[in-house]
Amino acid sequence: MNFQLKSVSLEQAAQWPLDALVVLCPDDVLAASRNAQDPISVWVQSAIAAKDLEEGAGKLLQAYGLPGITARRLVWARAGDGSAAQARKAATAAIGALKGAKVKTIGVYAGSLGVAAINALVRAVAEASYVYTTTKSKAEGRTIRHVEVGVTDAGAVRPGFEQACAVVRGVELAREWANRPANHATPTHLAEAAQQLARKPHLSAEILGPKEVEQLGMGAFLAVAQGSEQPLRFIVLKYQGAAKAVAPVVLVGKGITFDTGGISLKPAAEMDEMKFDMGGAASVLGTFAALAELRPALNVVGLIPACENMPGARAVKPGDVVTSLSGQTIEILNTDAEGRLILCDALTYAQRFEPRALIDIATLTGACVIALGGVRAGLFANRDELARQLHEAGEAAQDPCWRMPLDDDYAEGLKSNFADMGNVAGRQAGVVTAAKFLQKFVEDGQSWAHLDIAGVAWKSGAAKGATGRPVGLLLQFLVDEAARIAAEQPVSPAPGAKADKAVKPVRKTAKVAKAADRAAPARKPAKAKKA
Ligand code: BES
Ligand code: MN
Ligand code: ZN
Repeated sequence: MNFQLKSVSLEQAAQWPLDALVVLCPDDVLAASRNAQDPISVWVQSAIAAKDLEEGAGKLLQAYGLPGITARRLVWARAGDGSAAQARKAATAAIGALKGAKVKTIGVYAGSLGVAAINALVRAVAEASYVYTTTKSKAEGRTIRHVEVGVTDAGAVRPGFEQACAVVRGVELAREWANRPANHATPTHLAEAAQQLARKPHLSAEILGPKEVEQLGMGAFLAVAQGSEQPLRFIVLKYQGAAKAVAPVVLVGKGITFDTGGISLKPAAEMDEMKFDMGGAASVLGTFAALAELRPALNVVGLIPACENMPGARAVKPGDVVTSLSGQTIEILNTDAEGRLILCDALTYAQRFEPRALIDIATLTGACVIALGGVRAGLFANRDELARQLHEAGEAAQDPCWRMPLDDDYAEGLKSNFADMGNVAGRQAGVVTAAKFLQKFVEDGQSWAHLDIAGVAWKSGAAKGATGRPVGLLLQFLVDEAARIAAEQPVSPAPGAKADKAVKPVRKTAKVAKAADRAAPARKPAKAKKA
């Protein structure tokens, strides 16, 4: 899908030779246009006079072949107070009204809406027009291919517009991979997707297989993967947008390509939805696609432990004790609490990069779905500053999260008689105890956050499908982080990826199954604190 931003007046947009024109009109602009004589204003005023226009953002008026308008279809949408939330509502409603119509090219006139609203409307247009096709034999695909966004002053909103276009790219990649059925999205397929991505400038990828992961000593990850015929993959993605010396942000995405529960088998109802259990991994892939497009000046490492969680003759059994990469032993009391087992080894590995911030993203608990539903992701952080930054990024990107507690008392239930810890606690506060388990693998000195996206990564019911969240939040956080890095080093040349010649070209071809000790800088052996 292709977006273009232009400075135009409403009269000029009315002459655009496109299939449809969408006009987003905030209430104050509507009030001020009472006596305007252009065809759209006259038409809208006649509807108001006839009391045919309801109050509220997202309320529509539609016309076909209106004189004075070049586009066949015209959709006029109320954008309320012109905020990002209301612009999004208006754009979603307008695109919904065009669904099924044969419109390939559309114009969206947004007048003098602010940068946040422009960002929101671009994302809403993409979101509302997305169609999944990969595994349908006669799929039509999305009809809307080209979108011109008309504003009063394109220069003023261009940064927000470009960020929105990058988010759209990332969200669509994340939706695509999360939507694919598990037999079309195996750990091997995910690794291939990462290698594909790594062809873009500033990106590189390295893929580890079972042998390397065993050599490393990721006993918890291996235990989950051992029940499946599909070999595990450990994906290491790198984005270099700043000088090598700048510590990276490390993102870790849960990549369970299908979660049956293992021997602790899940019930049959809605088990198909567990193909979305790699939503965290998909959001990391999506974020890297967005980074490649936007190229902010920072370094980012993406780690994806990917495997299936299957029952079988070789599957790990309740009560089995495994040794994690950190050296800590884990009694696997419930094989359905597998996400934390693959993540704990990835978190230990991540600390080799000495990250400025370590963030894991996971469809981790059903308890999070109960607590927060599909509106906000669960946010946990061991630093108030990082929590605030992620929370604010979520608000700005309209991809919100909410901070949850990490009191040590919540870890009580993780005690085990047979290992350093169990992998589950009791029924209470399941979203928190999962986070407490992960925290045991994060050193005290490491700034860390965990996003439980079980409720926000996909929708159930008639609109079943992946949302692409939290790519918007993550990209916003990374863009903000790049600004913070630039502010930290006022003298050294701000290492903008586009301009900085000192940045060495990154390896473009990714090699499968590299020697384990070359997979990451072998700095201090990460020693996790004991519970
Ligand atoms: N992938 C699930 C979490 C999940 C459940 C996400 C429902 C979205 C909807 C995870 O692996 C899991 O099974 N968690 C268990 C943990 C329990 C065994 C402590 C859960 O939440 O029931
Ligand atoms: Mn599970
Ligand atoms: Zn799971």
